[in-house]
Amino acid sequence: MRPIIQMNQIRKTYTTGKVTFDALKGIDCDIQSGEFMAIVGPSGSGKSTMMNIIGCLDIPTDGEYNLDGQKVNTLNANQLADIRNQRIGFVFQAFNLLPYATAYENVEVPLLFAKATAKKRKERVVELLERVGLGNKLANKPTEMSGGEMQRVAVARALANEPEIILADEPTGNLDTKSGSEIFALFRELHRAGKTIIIITHDLNLAKQTERIFRLKDGLVDTNGNGSSAPQPH
Ligand SMILES: Nc1ncnc2c1ncn2[C@@H]1O[C@H](COP(=O)(O)OP(=O)(O)OP(=O)(O)O)[C@@H](O)[C@H]1O
Ligand SMILES: [Mg+2]
Repeated sequence: MRPIIQMNQIRKTYTTGKVTFDALKGIDCDIQSGEFMAIVGPSGSGKSTMMNIIGCLDIPTDGEYNLDGQKVNTLNANQLADIRNQRIGFVFQAFNLLPYATAYENVEVPLLFAKATAKKRKERVVELLERVGLGNKLANKPTEMSGGEMQRVAVARALANEPEIILADEPTGNLDTKSGSEIFALFRELHRAGKTIIIITHDLNLAKQTERIFRLKDGLVDTNGNGSSAPQPH
């Protein structure tokens, strides 16, 4: 095992007009390669802020973030975009699919950015959509799919460039219990395949199925809530 994510005293201050807000007030968090971790905490506690920093969608105001030994603070916008495209797969609560594009086209997007050949793109998109159980919905648009199916397209898209890390911000938040469990089962499968998986969830039943629960409260690690718990057998 090696730490793939190392956060040292990470702070994030948002400024809106003249008002500043400390969303993260000094977070330490190491995540090992292959870990399956849940981030939990009340609304506004800083979960998405932390996830956005882990995913290089945003940069911290202060503190040091190392991604696989690389200091993220020193990278420029293009380098950050490459990391997001190659090394991280994102899944969001609201799916964030292109509404007028088919399942196939949605999954193809990260492969186009990565300049994969047409042959490779086709093989990969079909393989991924089959893997998430949507081999028969390649030509369907988001409006022609259920929420659970849309989220499976989003998971397939997240996997397009074989990232080592999957970040999911409330991936089951808009789904019924059954579809949510199916999405979660996909994450478990990816975990078994060796991916590092970090999920934000309000659902403690789902959080408990991961190896480790990382609790946030008011922008700090919540030690009353047992901080980040030791890995659980699963
Ligand atoms: N772009 C922004 N500008 C200003 N304030 C922000 C911004 N993004 C988040 N915040 C504030 O930072 C705090 C943490 O927000 P964050 O989205 O990380 O919370 P969260 O734990 O993900 O909450 P939720 O469970 O509701 O999604 C909140 O008080 C929020 O209002
Ligand atoms: Mg959030």
